[in-house]
Amino acid sequence: MADLLVKDAAQLAYYPDYDAKEPQFISGGSLAIAEGKIVALGETREVVDAIQRPQEVIEARGCLVTPGLIDSHTHLVFAGSREDEFVRRMAGESYLSIASEGGGILSTVHATRQASEEELTELGNARLASMLACGTTTVESKSGYGLDMESELKCLRVTERLRELQPIRLVSTFLGAHAIPPEYKADRGGYVRLITDEILPRVAEEGLAEFCDVFCDAGAFTVQEMETILLRAKELGFSLKAHLDEFENLGGVEVATRLGVTSVDHLSKSGREEARACARSGTVATFLPATTFHLGESDFADARTFIEAGAEVAVASDFNPGSAYCENLSASIILSCAYLHMRPREILRAMTVAGALALNIGDGRGVFKEGAPADVVVWNAHSWNYLVYHWGVNLLKRVIVGGKVVI
Ligand code: NIG
Ligand code: FE
Repeated sequence: MADLLVKDAAQLAYYPDYDAKEPQFISGGSLAIAEGKIVALGETREVVDAIQRPQEVIEARGCLVTPGLIDSHTHLVFAGSREDEFVRRMAGESYLSIASEGGGILSTVHATRQASEEELTELGNARLASMLACGTTTVESKSGYGLDMESELKCLRVTERLRELQPIRLVSTFLGAHAIPPEYKADRGGYVRLITDEILPRVAEEGLAEFCDVFCDAGAFTVQEMETILLRAKELGFSLKAHLDEFENLGGVEVATRLGVTSVDHLSKSGREEARACARSGTVATFLPATTFHLGESDFADARTFIEAGAEVAVASDFNPGSAYCENLSASIILSCAYLHMRPREILRAMTVAGALALNIGDGRGVFKEGAPADVVVWNAHSWNYLVYHWGVNLLKRVIVGGKVVI
C-alpha cells in the first residue's frame, strides 16, 4: 500500500545510507511513501509493480528528486536588519572594525532584546517558510542574539513555538557564547560564569536546546573560554558545536575535537592539521561558503584538504543578519562547487548525509532507504549536476515532509 507515489523522475539522486561511500543516481526512478515513510524506491517499473494503487501521484517526469536538504547551521531568531552595515562593508570597512564599534552582532542583540516573543515568532516563521520553499526540510536554529538569561530563553522559546507553526523540522542550539554583551564588556569572566552557572543549567532544565555552541575567534571567545563553556555543557548533557577559524586560527579545532564536539563550523583559516583532527575524531567539518561570499571575501575555506583527509564535510547556509543573509541553502550549491572546489556528489552528501550527522540525526533523514522518513524534494532539473550548474533561480517544484506534500 502507498499513500503517495513520486513517479517517473528523470533522476533520483541520494545516498542510500549514512555510511554509504557512493551516491545513487537512478534514471527513470520512482519513490513510494506510506504513513510518512519511504516504502519503496528504485526504477519506476519495479516500484510500480511492488506497490498497490497509490492514493496520490506526483508526476515527476523530467524532474530531479532528492532528499530534503538539511541546513545544519543557521542563526534563525533575531530582529532588526543591517543593510547599512553591509553597504559600509562593501565600501571598504571591515566586519571586525564595525563590530568593535558596537555594530555587528551587538546591533542585532539590541534589536532582539527589544522585540517581543510574538514579533520574533512572526519573523522566524516567515524565514522558515522561505527555507522550506528553497528545499530545506530540516534546519538547525541557534540562539545568540539575546546574550542575557531572559532574552536567550525568549529566543529559544520562539524556536519551540516555531516547531508547531511550520512543517520544517527544527534542531535547537544554545549560542549564548556568540559575543560578550555590552554590560559585561569589562568582565568577560563574569559573562562566561553567567553562561556556565546560570543560563546553561536553566536551558537544560527547560529542555530548550539539544546543542551548545561557542563562537571562538578573534573578537569573540578564546579557546580557553570555549573549553570552559563546552565542558560545562557536556556535563549538563548537551551535544556540542563550535564556530572556529572564521577570521583567525586560534588553535581551537584541536581542542574542540578532543572535547567531542559533533561539528566544527566555518574553518576558513583551517588547514591540514585541522582536517586531520576532524578525520581522526569523526567530527563533521561544516563549511559556510555563503558567508565568505556575502562578506565579499575571496579566501574560501580549503574544503578539499578536509575531504582528502577523510573528514565528513557538511555545507550549511549560516543564515544570519550580518554575514550571510540568505535563507536559501541551495544557493550554496554553486558556491561549494565553484569556490570550495567540491564535486557535485560531495555537495549532495554535504547537504544531506553530512548535515544529518552534524545534527546527530540518525533516523533516516537525509538518505533514501526503506523505512526512512519521507522528506523529499522534487526539482525542476533533470539531474543533480544540472541543479549544480543552473544557479540564481529557485528550481524547486515540490516539497514533501514526513510524507505530506507541503509545497
Ligand atoms: O556565523 N560568526 C559568528 N556569527 C555569525 C555572524 C553573526 C552576525 O554578524 O550577526 C556567523 O557568521
Ligand atoms: Fe554562524
